[in-house]
Amino acid sequence: MKITSVELKNFRNYKSEKIFFDGKTNSLCGKNAQGKTNLIEAIFFACIGKSFRTNKEKQLISWGESQSKIIINAENQIRKKKIEVNIFLNSKKSVKLDDIVIRRIGDVLGEIPIVFFSPDELKLVKESPDERRKFMNIDISQTNKRYFYLLSRYDKILDNRNKLLKNSKSIESLKDMIQIWDKALASTGLKIIAEREKFIKNLEKNEKKAHEFISGGEKLELVYKKPEVKTEEEYLKKLSKLLEKDYSLGYTTFGPHRDDIDIYIDGQEVKNFGSQGQQRTTALSLKLAELEIIKNENGEYPILILDDVFSELDKTRRDRLIKFTARCQTFITATDENLCNGKIIRVENGKVV
Ligand SMILES: Nc1ncnc2c1ncn2[C@@H]1O[C@H](COP(=O)(O)OP(=O)(O)OP(=O)(O)O)[C@@H](O)[C@H]1O
Ligand SMILES: [Mg+2]
Repeated sequence: MKITSVELKNFRNYKSEKIFFDGKTNSLCGKNAQGKTNLIEAIFFACIGKSFRTNKEKQLISWGESQSKIIINAENQIRKKKIEVNIFLNSKKSVKLDDIVIRRIGDVLGEIPIVFFSPDELKLVKESPDERRKFMNIDISQTNKRYFYLLSRYDKILDNRNKLLKNSKSIESLKDMIQIWDKALASTGLKIIAEREKFIKNLEKNEKKAHEFISGGEKLELVYKKPEVKTEEEYLKKLSKLLEKDYSLGYTTFGPHRDDIDIYIDGQEVKNFGSQGQQRTTALSLKLAELEIIKNENGEYPILILDDVFSELDKTRRDRLIKFTARCQTFITATDENLCNGKIIRVENGKVV
């Protein structure tokens, strides 16, 4: 899949702009605060349904305006695709796929698959399990819509169960009601765990290759920290065993909403013992592995977006990265034009010059 053009109206510091892209590497160059990240944020927002910078989508509308528009045109060998998003100050955003209004955001997710990396993605390796779950969820959802809807169902069930735990006067009074939620939780939970297990196996295989390529030979290992249950019966037993604890805490302590991935290099946990450079390369190779996984699922590469990565890598790793990215359409932002290759797009004050 390749993005052929992006049209922006009143998006962040862009007034009105239509930008055409190359099918291979596109380098967005310019000084600080000109709109390089804004441009890729627009692409990400239209394709993934949220921003990588904010949860408040109204912030994306240019200051003083009441509406913002993003239109993405993309194509592969078989067909063209168009996503249009309108963000309004005073109402919900609207999304169109090929000019047809889409009601559920999951129906757009994965139409134009994206892999995004910025220095901020270091949090994937360093920060809380929540970051690694978010990574898994966006990733799996892009090639598996069923998973996306499974997750939303799981979240709703979990929410209901937690409310019941919090609001019940006594543990006896909730015992009958909670069985309904427990059953639903167990059946969706097990499906989520199975999808994640498959994904992480795949991820490890591909990440090893990417990591070796960029770093020159470190040995990487991923361990999926998941709930140790195989059947619905075991799952229910576990929930009932923990009921007293869950009741006293007011939330559910067992299930895939607590999953994590432990990452090791040469036997040492990267989060605690990895150098800054090792952590950075690990986060990057996780993303590059995503490329291969989506390629395997879809039969074609997704679009790779790299924000500000050059300043973080030494020359050898930079060159290796450029070599790696030649396989798919890539957007790279940089302040130094000397580091750019492919089609150069100069960004200045919300305009392409
Ligand atoms: N809602 C908005 N309306 C108008 N302008 C905005 C809005 N949000 C952000 N901006 C402007 O966009 C600028 C930042 O653009 P962006 O983050 O794309 O910069 P950049 O080119 O990536 O710079 P850097 O090299 O520092 O990363 C900010 O300086 C801000 O003035
Ligand atoms: Mg930027």
